[in-house]
Amino acid sequence: MRVLLTGGTGFIGVPLTESLLARGYDVIVLSRQTLTDRPGCRFISSLDRVPVTEELDAVINLAGASLAARRWSESYKGEIVSSRMDITRQLLALMVRLSCPPKVLLSASAIGYYGHHDDEQLTESSPATPGFAQKLCSNWETLALTAQSLGVRVCLLRLGVVLDGGGGALEEMAKSFRFGVASWLGSGSQWLSWVHREDVIRAIGFLLTRDDLQGPFNITAPEPATAWEFARALKAHHRTFIQAGVPASIARLLLGEMAPELLLNGQRVLPAQLQRSGFEFNYPTTPSALAAIYGTPTTTLTNSSSE
Ligand SMILES: NC(=O)c1ccc[n+]([C@@H]2O[C@H](COP(=O)([O-])OP(=O)(O)OC[C@H]3O[C@@H](n4cnc5c(N)ncnc54)[C@H](OP(=O)(O)O)[C@@H]3O)[C@@H](O)[C@H]2O)c1
Repeated sequence: MRVLLTGGTGFIGVPLTESLLARGYDVIVLSRQTLTDRPGCRFISSLDRVPVTEELDAVINLAGASLAARRWSESYKGEIVSSRMDITRQLLALMVRLSCPPKVLLSASAIGYYGHHDDEQLTESSPATPGFAQKLCSNWETLALTAQSLGVRVCLLRLGVVLDGGGGALEEMAKSFRFGVASWLGSGSQWLSWVHREDVIRAIGFLLTRDDLQGPFNITAPEPATAWEFARALKAHHRTFIQAGVPASIARLLLGEMAPELLLNGQRVLPAQLQRSGFEFNYPTTPSALAAIYGTPTTTLTNSSSE
């Protein structure tokens, strides 16, 4: 199988590339960086380098400027949007140009698609509430779905907060814990729908080969946690001396619009379509995922919030 991958140098893309190569697939990575080819993996800087006769089986579209890297100024919001829409448009133009379009497009999206919800459980058919991330995901998905008109099977990857060691959201979330402070943002009652990176890679591999599947897929662990429950599970892996919630007003002051959109208003998302299709998560619960990342907990969990 030959796969064209965008975002192949990122937090998900790097281990995904390894996993595709281990399956014996050929991988072509579109990247802005100058990188050296290696057996099975070729880097290209422009899709114009792909000849019309190229036989691609799949396209996986993960590229985009990080939503959490910087405060959301109007210009950075523009970059977040254009970095995703422009590459997706270029991929669609390539699919039109190829003599034989790929069989499948797996296009990243996020659970931000659903907007702000309180306690209700969200599946792929749940309605969305308006917001910046919601509009971004919705427009990005709509654009990706236009590949269906070329006969391409399209799967939309509605990713939760992807966790693993060595970067990503967990590095930021665990920062205060490393200094002995167990912390969470706001009330702590907001839902955090997370997923272990290994399960993301496995879910992508699953969707790649299941010709009968298409449409949106929540890629989140089956058991989301509240921010407070998550902090408690994280605390078990750190030597902390105090615990404190960071007031929502401070988070808003420090992070601006990003705070309510990404951190203070959660979503309780369930991977209904993946589970219905027979996908099994290796890490369904927060303690199981954190134990895989950090090893055995250093302290035992109790049920008290005042421990
Ligand atoms: N990680 C998560 O928790 C999470 C959660 C929900 C959704 N997602 C979505 O899943 C996708 C992959 O996530 P990730 O964590 O692997 O992302 P990442 O580590 O930030 O990597 C994304 C890749 O996109 C490319 N990129 C970055 N800025 C760009 C720009 N301004 N213009 C064009 N390309 C740019 C980079 O590739 P090159 O430098 O090689 O060009 C980078 O390696 C993203 O679209 C993200 O929004 C991720």
